[in-house]
Amino acid sequence: MTSIVLYCRPGFEKECGAEIEEKASWNEMYGYLELKKNQGVVFFHLHDPAHGEALIKTLPLKRLIFTRQWFVTLTKKIDLPDYNRVEAIIEALGNEWQYDDLRMETPDTNDGKSLSKFCRKLAVPLRQGLRKAKVLTGKGDSFNPEQDGSVLHALFLSGQEVILGFSLARNSSPHVMGIPRLKFPSQAPSRSTLKLDEAFLYFIPRDEWDTRLTSGMNAVDLGSAPGGWTYQLVRRGMMVTAIDNGPMAESLMETGQVKHKMMDGFKYVPMKQNVHWLVCDMIEKPQRVAKLMSEWLLNGYCKEAMFNLKLPMKGRYQQVTNDLQTIKDLFNENNVKYELYAKHLYYDREEITVHARLI
Ligand SMILES: C[S@@+](CC[C@H](N)C(=O)[O-])C[C@H]1O[C@@H](n2cnc3c(N)ncnc32)[C@H](O)[C@@H]1O
Repeated sequence: MTSIVLYCRPGFEKECGAEIEEKASWNEMYGYLELKKNQGVVFFHLHDPAHGEALIKTLPLKRLIFTRQWFVTLTKKIDLPDYNRVEAIIEALGNEWQYDDLRMETPDTNDGKSLSKFCRKLAVPLRQGLRKAKVLTGKGDSFNPEQDGSVLHALFLSGQEVILGFSLARNSSPHVMGIPRLKFPSQAPSRSTLKLDEAFLYFIPRDEWDTRLTSGMNAVDLGSAPGGWTYQLVRRGMMVTAIDNGPMAESLMETGQVKHKMMDGFKYVPMKQNVHWLVCDMIEKPQRVAKLMSEWLLNGYCKEAMFNLKLPMKGRYQQVTNDLQTIKDLFNENNVKYELYAKHLYYDREEITVHARLI
């Protein structure tokens, strides 16, 4: 049997499962789910073994909101011996295929975290062994994940159990388990800052930062206090209008790059059409936010929008689908072409992040 293993935030396995099942069925690929509750791991067992690779070739990972990373299984769960683990893994893999990189992974749980030392230790001899067996190519650090090539995944469920699989470099996350490790900047006024930092990294290709994320641009931050998101705009050299009835951090106001307006974010309208970025982290009904963001883009008040949509307690996948549909409907009614992507990012909790722009 071939399965797809999907990583998501622990507690969101149901959403991750519902989404892969639905989006695979659009491609006429079917299977059944095995969810590991609160483990952040979902197995989608495919009825047709050829559909594993076909699915990761056809469905862009960027289109999956709740999946951080995925791979197609090459083996079932392998029981590892206490000694000669490397040999056991190499034997299970065979040497028919070659991979450009190796990812040592665990579930994103406390138990999983306690395995990370074990994984780090094993990674060195395993890489060496795989290179010697010509299963891993010698590309090492020069490997460019944007290009074709495949990545070998070893998911350790414990020190004695591993599942092996592969992903396609051009359609998988460049990060282990899809988790970017970002450093909290000590000058930022709130931890929320990491959400916008991750969002820019995830949604905007690095080679476009010079034109889309650069100094001198104007930005509006709705629901800005105390300023974690504004901080990310300011540090990129932008001029920011920050809208919130709450206070902004003094350190940000002292930069001279921030104008703070104490007012309702739903009522603010920019004076000039010179805003590139609209960012919004207001804790508000997602349908209301979705409409507001669409209106800003359709009215030409901004060129790109990055915003959060809060998730309900129940029916989260359905709610997200409805929210995104609201935006699509408004764009379609106005006959505009657009780009719209949504992701449950690592630093998101009970919300997803959405990026939208008209093209
Ligand atoms: C999660 S906090 C924002 C945190 C901020 N992004 C940061 O990184 O520091 C949500 C903010 O939205 C503001 N807010 C909620 N509804 C609003 C509205 N209608 N207009 C303006 N601000 C609003 C709240 O006052 C609160 O400061």
